[in-house]
Amino acid sequence: MKVLIIGGGGREHALALGLKADPVVTELYCAPGNPGIAEVASIHPVDVSNNDSIVALAKELDVDFVVVGPELPLVNGVADLLRAEGFATFGPSKAAAQLEGSKTFAKEVMNDAGVQTARSFTCTKRVEIEKALDALGAPYVVKDDGLAAGKGVVVTHDREQALAHAMACKKVVIEEYLDGPEISLFGISDGKTVIAMQPAQDFKRAGDNDAGPNTGGMGAYSPLPWAPTDIVEQIQRQVLSPMIAEMAARGTPFVGLLYAGLSLTNHGIRVIEFNARFGDPETQVLIPRLETPLATLLYKAATRDLEGITLKWREDSAVTVVLAAGGYPDVPTTGDPITGLPHIHSVEVYHAGTQLDAKGLVSSGGRVLSVTGMGSDLTEARNCAYRGISQIKLKGSYFRSDIALNAAVAEKGN
Ligand code: AMP
Ligand code: GLY
Repeated sequence: MKVLIIGGGGREHALALGLKADPVVTELYCAPGNPGIAEVASIHPVDVSNNDSIVALAKELDVDFVVVGPELPLVNGVADLLRAEGFATFGPSKAAAQLEGSKTFAKEVMNDAGVQTARSFTCTKRVEIEKALDALGAPYVVKDDGLAAGKGVVVTHDREQALAHAMACKKVVIEEYLDGPEISLFGISDGKTVIAMQPAQDFKRAGDNDAGPNTGGMGAYSPLPWAPTDIVEQIQRQVLSPMIAEMAARGTPFVGLLYAGLSLTNHGIRVIEFNARFGDPETQVLIPRLETPLATLLYKAATRDLEGITLKWREDSAVTVVLAAGGYPDVPTTGDPITGLPHIHSVEVYHAGTQLDAKGLVSSGGRVLSVTGMGSDLTEARNCAYRGISQIKLKGSYFRSDIALNAAVAEKGN
């Protein structure tokens, strides 16, 4: 099978390694890819915001299967165009990707599906915004309705800041604050059947102890030894299955990866958000743990053939730590040399914001690398990840030192 991956971040690097390991894959391409992905796939330039260039590349390479990584082309409808040209495609249609593309749409579907989420108001005018802020009270949760590359959400006790963010959005969702540990659970769906992966936890804030601004994600780990043993079944029953059924009933089946961001509150499981694609950096801990051949699995989803499949997982734990460029998440510094990439057993380095120039490997984005460590428990996996990331030299870069720390300590205590 000739497989084309669209995207060029850490998530796509992890997907590339997973796909490559499946013996059905004979050729692996990635566009635009990055220097890390180039070690396992042949990379091709493409503008991910231009659907025609993606379809043209799939035709030129004459691939059998396309896996779309990022949300932008999905929300722009690339999966519809690829399917119309006869390509098996892993990724939802434009209509189904609206679960990520519009927070208001996601709320409507959840409401119709009976899925629990934070109470919310969608507003466009200042009077509505102020009324919503005062009705819900602090901490204020203010979300840009549309795609915002992980930066559209402000959670704050400061009413002025909440109001300012809301006013800067064209359409804004103001919602109830959900108090509870967050987890990410991914469902792989063929439109009818949905298979849950194992849960992961992401660290969204830039600094240790969840200080600082929201980011795209600074690290992740899996499994979650502290979570209730039936957490996956609960979320499957309360969230994934009803959402997939509702999307099918609307005539817009969701084929691809449904990412549920959840809060485990005292009142039960609540949805924080949906994404229409694999999460980053959760993918960098889930794919290394997945034993089920990835290309076969995703192809079965794309061709409506998932029924009866169960996933196999390694017993190992995985922890990934993101190396961010100085200035991230505001304006990251780019163009600086990266050296000291570790070559250590049980450590994998995924490239995200890197490129090759005359100086060699240099930084080219906010999240530069993610370093995943594997081990028999979270402590061992953390040790590997941190041993790996501390060898890397990139001027001005930083990483969180507490990824999976509390979970590892709690696991040891058990
Ligand atoms: P989102 O992009 O919707 O995932 O939001 C980014 C982050 O903001 C989430 O991972 C949470 O940490 C936080 N957040 C979003 N919505 C809520 C909420 N209703 N209550 C508490 N925290 C939230
Ligand atoms: N890790 C959060 C995201 O992928 O959106």
